[in-house]
Amino acid sequence: MSDLYLPLRSVHMTCAALSILAFVIRYIWMLRESTLLQQRAVKIVPHIVDTLLLLSAIGLVGIIGFGPNAAWLSAKIVGLIVYIVLGTLALKRGRTKGARAMFGLLAIIVFAFIASVARTHNPLGFFMHV
Ligand code: HEM
Repeated sequence: MSDLYLPLRSVHMTCAALSILAFVIRYIWMLRESTLLQQRAVKIVPHIVDTLLLLSAIGLVGIIGFGPNAAWLSAKIVGLIVYIVLGTLALKRGRTKGARAMFGLLAIIVFAFIASVARTHNPLGFFMHV
């Protein structure tokens, strides 16, 4: 295993934590209709964090190989796409505040699902107990 693996995994996990933190903060500002949501940094920092999250993921996959881990990695990729779409609907595109609130809750649940897939290396994540 490459010497880079553990540091890269730490970067990846830190970015994952920062990503959901940044999302929840913006979600609360959206619910409160706060103008803080329009701050310049708010439009930039989450993209940097999410880009690092993805780059570190690509680096990790480069080290462990996609083939032997295809099932749970595919679940994470699909989960990530769903998390991004739900996040955009929650913070921007949802038509009513009620719809945005619902999309935001779903985004948080999908994020937890991705983290559970990461920990268990099982594509079902926390659904494996169902
Ligand atoms: C929102 C998106 C993501 C979150 C929340 C997330 C979360 C995590 C967490 C918490 C871990 C550490 C698991 C542990 O060792 O306990 C991890 C590891 C990892 N993630 Fe992600 N991840 C995300 C996206 C991705 C994507 C898109 C990929 C690649 C397809 C990926 C590939 C990996 C790999 C290869 C590991 C190392 C697994 C290990 O060493 O056991 N992650 N991820």
